[in-house]
This record gives sequence, C-alpha cells and structure tokens, in this order.
Amino acid sequence: MSSKPIRFLLNDEEVSLAGINPNTTVLQYLRQHLGKVGTKEGCASGDCGACTVVLGEVSKGLSGEESGEVTNEVTNERSSKEKMHYKTVNACIALLPSLHGKQLITVEDLKHKGQMHPVQKSIAEQHASQCGFCTPGFVMSLFALNKNHDLPPTREQTNQALGGNLCRCTGYRSIIDAAVMAEKKPDQFDSKSAITIKRLQAIADDSADTTIELSADGCRSFSPQSVSELAHLIETYPEARLVAGGTDLCLQITQSLDQFETLISTLNVAELCQVEHSEKGITIGAGATYSQFVSPLSQQYPEWGAMIERLGSLQIRNLGTLGGNIANASPVGDMPPVLIAMGATLCLRKGNRTRHLAIEGFFLEYKKTALETGEFIQSIFIPNTSDTTHLKIYKVSKRFDDDISAVLAAIKLQVKDNSVSTIDIALGGMAAIPKRATKCEAALRNQQWNEATIERAAAALSDDFTPLSDARASSQYRLQVAQNLLRRAFIEISNPDVVTQVVTHA
Ligand code: FES
Ligand code: FES
Repeated sequence: MSSKPIRFLLNDEEVSLAGINPNTTVLQYLRQHLGKVGTKEGCASGDCGACTVVLGEVSKGLSGEESGEVTNEVTNERSSKEKMHYKTVNACIALLPSLHGKQLITVEDLKHKGQMHPVQKSIAEQHASQCGFCTPGFVMSLFALNKNHDLPPTREQTNQALGGNLCRCTGYRSIIDAAVMAEKKPDQFDSKSAITIKRLQAIADDSADTTIELSADGCRSFSPQSVSELAHLIETYPEARLVAGGTDLCLQITQSLDQFETLISTLNVAELCQVEHSEKGITIGAGATYSQFVSPLSQQYPEWGAMIERLGSLQIRNLGTLGGNIANASPVGDMPPVLIAMGATLCLRKGNRTRHLAIEGFFLEYKKTALETGEFIQSIFIPNTSDTTHLKIYKVSKRFDDDISAVLAAIKLQVKDNSVSTIDIALGGMAAIPKRATKCEAALRNQQWNEATIERAAAALSDDFTPLSDARASSQYRLQVAQNLLRRAFIEISNPDVVTQVVTHA
C-alpha cells in the first residue's frame, strides 16, 4: 500500500506536511511552526476554547449537529448538493492527521480587504471582548455558528456553540448578543466555496486508497483510508496507539508530555463513520463523531440526544468518537452506561475476522477491556426499544456544559399491569468500570411499580456500588445521587404530565 503526506488548505494555501513529529498538536503547529499566534493556548486540555479553530470540510449530506439535519439514511454517501460545512475544534487536542483534506481557518483568516468579518464587527459593537485572550476562540465559535445557519442563531443554538468557550470575566451576555446580532451576509469563504470544494475533493481523490503518513523524531503516524488497511496496520504494529478524535489521548501529550512512537489514526476511514438504521436498530461506526450521530440518535431517543449535547463541548463533540469513548474505558465516560442499559453489541475486528460482544462484557477492570492485541472496535449496534419502554438518562456534573460526570445514570424499563416487566440500569462514576446495577434491578424485576419497591431498589444500590471519593464528588454524594435519580425516574414515569428536565446538574 502506497503512502502520501497530509495535505490540507491553510485558509486558501495548500500545505503538504513532511518532517514534523506526529505528536504535534494543531495548536503547536500553528504557533511554533508557522508563527500564527492569534490562536491562543489557555489550558491545553480542551477545557477553555481559547485555541478554537475551524475546519471547513465538504459536506456530503452528513447528519451534523450544527446543521441540524436529520436523516434516516446512511449518512456518509455523496450528496449531489455538496457544500462547505464548518466545524469548531480545539487545536490544543487535535493532532495533525485531523487536517487531511480539510480547510484550516484561524482567526487571522477572517479579516478581508481590510474589513473585519461580520462576527468580529459584531463583537466590537457589542463590547464583547474584554481580556482579548479568550476572544479569538469566541470569534471562531461565532464564525462557525454564523456560517452554518441561514438565519440568525437562536440563544439556545448560541449557548450550544459557546459551551466550550470560557470567559473568565463573565462577559457572556455581550458575547451572546454579538452572536445573535452578527450580520449574515456572503463573505470571502462563500465567494470561494466552489473552488475550495474542488481543491478539497482533488486532495481526497488523489489520496484515495492510500495511507497518509507523517514521521519525524523517530515517531510516525499512519492514517489509513479503508477499514481493511486499518485492520492490517493494527496487526502489523500491535504496539501502536490507535487514535480517533484524540480528545483524551492528546492530554497525555500536552499534560504528561508523552510521545507516541507509532500512532494509527481512524479519522480518514469513511466506513467507520457510517450511521445506519435498520428494522432492528441503529448501527454506528466506531469512528463517527458525536456531531455526526447525535441527530439520528436524538430523533429516536430525545433524552439520549439531550445528554450528548452536554457531553464535552461542541468542539469536543466535533472530534470525539463513539468508539473512542468506549475503548478509552473511563469509569466516567458518558456513553457506556447508556449503551449497557440499551443492550448494545460491539462488532470487534482483528484482521479479517469479526466477533460480536455485548458491551457489558467489554469492560473488565479499570481501563482494561476485552480487546485482544491487534483488535479494534468497528461498530456499535443499538437494538430498538419497544414503544412501551421508558428510557431515563441523567448526567450529574458540577458544571452544566463541558464537564465530566460525577454520576451518569441510564434506566430503561417497562411496566405492565403495574409491575416492572423489564429493567436495565447502568451507572457511570460509581465503580472502576461503567457497570450494571444487578441487585437494584433484581429488587425491581417483576415487582409492583410503587414507592415501596423503589425504596427497596434504592437501598440495593448500596450493595451494587461502593463509589470512590474524588475531586468531582464524595462516595456518599455519589450513592445518594444515584438513589435520588432512581426516585426521580419513578416520579417522572409515574407522572408523565409533570414537566421535567431530562438532564440535571449538581
Ligand atoms: Fe484551552 Fe485548547 S487551550 S481548550
Ligand atoms: Fe476574555 Fe472574558 S473577555 S475572559
């Protein structure tokens, strides 16, 4: 298999990367290699948004969170109406392979013919910049918001777009005003979009069926473009680190200063990004980002979609993948408890062989999974639920947006003739692995659906879990919250007319 370099457009200048250590983040590349220091480093861990840049990509009918499109079809097929779509990412936790075939737009690129971009003008007019340090990140988030919506964004859309941008001096009101009031008019990116699409497609066509490589300083990265080549590379380099969105792995680079000798990126494997509906359920490719699958998933499970909109920030959801969240095996990952309660199955691949494993059996102990050497997650199947199934998902975290859960509870059940006929409960943040609450389930199964049963089941949670105390919550708090969430589910299910919030925060 031949290999080619990473190629992308830096605004409208084509760049071919060579001789750069693949452990370099996009932020380091911009600031240290190119001297483009408009993009700032605040936290270097994906938490503050100061480093926000925009990746322009050819939209092929993807079901994107920002576009609000919803489809039941396979979402990675070519659409006849190709257009540019703009997504924000945290440059501090994005590695260089994420740039291949994209247009990288930074804050330096917005000014045109001596004029500020409408979002910059609006920020100035609304007095929405105080420190100036966070401002480039806000500008880029507002730019993507402005580009991806035909109408002025609503406050809710604006809040979603800005969930990953911190303003430490609390100037949010004026920043939100600037977003809503920014003029929507064609800009330099619109006037060049046809040519940009052609150039990006030429890069894609030229690198089709090849592996994209980058190496320097004894480190190398491979970005295969087919799942069979991915499987081959993982078998060939069993010591390599597999990287998808890299939103967690990059923390090892920026915080622990680790360097990975061999990286294999899943980002360019289109087959891994598919989202397919069938009569039996939804299959999500392990490489699909949250932004790619949130719309189709929300359509079927609104509560799940609401939780995902609080999972990281939009910048994180534009990079992070479902497979990455599972393989990372964090005890506080938000998706695994829900997938366990839903009875999801993983399709694991090694070479040409695939096997299916109930996700419940995937997590063995802290950060240890059932993946064999050379094996990876190819896709995740989520079976349909019946119309009479209740699904409750609660994320409890200190901050509403862009925060890690103290407790994540997923409760799926059916009540027939006032008796609990099916019950699946799984929790995150309560043990070393995301885990089913088997004793709590047993206390509910085939029991009367009433307060006495719920109290017995809540008590059983203390037999299921002995949570840890850490910076996010104490052991006692976690247990109490888990019990209260069960009580809350009972109240909400028993009183469907009561207005409730589907998610909560501490
Ligand atoms: Fe804070 Fe990147 S520097 S999110
Ligand atoms: Fe930068 Fe508020 S304007 S922290």
